[in-house]
Amino acid sequence: MQDKQLNITNDTDPFKLFCQWLQKATLVENGEANAMVLATSSAKGKVNSRVVLLKKHSPQSFVFFTNYSSQKAQEINKNPYAAILFYWQKLGRQVRISGTVTRTTSEEADEYFATRVQKAQIGAWSSKQSQTLGSREYLEEKTKILEQKFAGKNIPRPEFWGGFSIKPQRYEFWQAANSSRLHDRFICEKNNSNKFAWQRLFP
Ligand SMILES: Cc1cc2nc3c(=O)[nH]c(=O)nc-3n(C[C@H](O)[C@H](O)[C@H](O)COP(=O)(O)O)c2cc1C
Repeated sequence: MQDKQLNITNDTDPFKLFCQWLQKATLVENGEANAMVLATSSAKGKVNSRVVLLKKHSPQSFVFFTNYSSQKAQEINKNPYAAILFYWQKLGRQVRISGTVTRTTSEEADEYFATRVQKAQIGAWSSKQSQTLGSREYLEEKTKILEQKFAGKNIPRPEFWGGFSIKPQRYEFWQAANSSRLHDRFICEKNNSNKFAWQRLFP
């Protein structure tokens, strides 16, 4: 847990700060430090959230992979805006990032799909993610059939599976100050000249 104050200046690069925090979390946290809560909303403003894994990140792009027919994908198709949230319990830190969402290129999706273990590749084929499933046995049977079909072969990426990239427009960094309870909270948003400008918020 932190008890140091968070030092932000106008020169702080939010992406670099995120990378430092993620790197530290990867060393310290027990679970997957790249797990993030992804919030999307329907065109009518109904909000949904779920955990996904951050698989790639750059100053322009925070990428996760999923099924393009899933509920989250359908919501992104209708309202291409999303928020992601990282919570690192041991560090007492939270990061919120939001921005517009686009699909990754098929090359990017192919490249990542090829790195997945075979069971995860078959899982992508067998799961009609977010649709009703009559029984677990059906999924097990479908998986077995696919395992036989792909035995000894390179498994291609299903067209209905790929990546989404969130372009960060707003970051928020929150850090606990355990003894004083005067937690630090900073946001930065892109201003008119496309530069990030920082502000401290009441925690
Ligand atoms: C730790 C963890 C990591 C997950 N990672 C992913 C992921 O990277 N992609 C994904 O599609 N679902 C992932 N899931 C499953 C999602 O939380 C969710 O159940 C699924 O994507 C369906 O969501 P939807 O119906 O809102 O589209 C993960 C779940 C957990 C608990």
